[in-house]
Amino acid sequence: MRKKTAFLTLALALGLTTSLAACSSGDDAGTDGSGSGSGDSASSVANKDKPLVWFNRQPSNSSTGELDKAALSFNDDTYYVGFDANQGAEVQGTMIKEYIEENIATVDKNGDGIIGYVLAIGDVGHNDSIARTRGVRKALGTSVEKDGNIISEPIGTNADGKATNVQDGTLEVDGKEYTIRELASQEMKNNSGATWDAATAGNGIGTWASSFGEQIDVIASNNDGMGMSMFNSWSKDNDVPTFGYDANSDAVAAIAEGYGGTISQHADVQAYLTLRVLRNALDGVDVDTGIGTADEAGNVLAEDTYTYSEEDRSYYALNVAVTAENYEDFTDSTMVYEPVSKQLDAAKSPEKKVWLNIYNSGDNFLGSTYQPLLEKYDDLLNLKVEYIGGDGQTESNITNRLGNPTEYDAFAINMVKTDNAASYTSILNQ
Ligand code: BGC
Repeated sequence: MRKKTAFLTLALALGLTTSLAACSSGDDAGTDGSGSGSGDSASSVANKDKPLVWFNRQPSNSSTGELDKAALSFNDDTYYVGFDANQGAEVQGTMIKEYIEENIATVDKNGDGIIGYVLAIGDVGHNDSIARTRGVRKALGTSVEKDGNIISEPIGTNADGKATNVQDGTLEVDGKEYTIRELASQEMKNNSGATWDAATAGNGIGTWASSFGEQIDVIASNNDGMGMSMFNSWSKDNDVPTFGYDANSDAVAAIAEGYGGTISQHADVQAYLTLRVLRNALDGVDVDTGIGTADEAGNVLAEDTYTYSEEDRSYYALNVAVTAENYEDFTDSTMVYEPVSKQLDAAKSPEKKVWLNIYNSGDNFLGSTYQPLLEKYDDLLNLKVEYIGGDGQTESNITNRLGNPTEYDAFAINMVKTDNAASYTSILNQ
């Protein structure tokens, strides 16, 4: 944990800067000695100097994945909160592979020795989606590399195994060799441009089922929203295991009915971190407070639930597989994480106003898991959050509702497209 010590040193330095900023913000509540505000909006702090957290969509180039360091270090109190996409992708791929190995007799239904799977892709330009596609292809041996990276593009259809962006994999189970084939994959984007679209996936599985029928042995999905849509419209009735991602409550419950499994990206930890980094900056305390170091109320995260990358200014929650073996521990995806569930003292952490947007009000994960968690943590952290839901298509649909940033003390942003950080920072810079 040497890295963490170095981080703490830096955090202390940052903490100092932040408390100076908080003291000079013109808040007149100096009497409690905490250096924090009165609960009124910190209107004299320039918008460009207010705490900012990006979450769920990391500022980055959607073609190359390169991080947008300018956005990630917009000011001294800027962070990203997400989860470890590569670790999660590996966990998802391994979960699917192990399921096939353990259930081979029921998986290869038509007994042709070929395990065919179809893959629902969320957003070809979103690094979480890219990582998950790669993770599944890697674990199943179907990946092909280009310039040192696994190709993550959808292939359309591949009935004969001749597609060039994937290859047939092989898997030996109980002394018998099986072929694994990606029969089809597609980005689930609707006609208006919204990605990760569950309805599109529900229709997509119908089309795939009519072309491939019994050849489909497994369904993999970049998330549970699309996975559940395919499960409900086809795979449940046809006993084909579907694997998703997010551990939304409906998907976890469906494991009892044959949904193959999902991944918890520890949304309970992410939602907490999203608001906690803002709270700490507003209070002018070390950013590690209530995260790696217990706060006065006793809130602290367990070390195995997240990592912090100082270089990326990013907190990443860790992922866990949710399968038939352990799903009962995950039935309520909106339950706060107990070690960080204690109310902060309003005298030291007075009410502050936060503007927060969700890129698409129709997104299953953000709507049914993340936002309910945020709404619980905002009370515990004494933050008054205004939640804005976007249409998932244009940044302006959201930025239009950030007309008066001066009203708010801090900002939490979930972009439509990971390239578009400047659409927001340009408003804060005005
Ligand atoms: C989730 C998806 C969600 C996406 C939105 C991902 O981390 O797994 O379910 O649609 O975030 O950006």
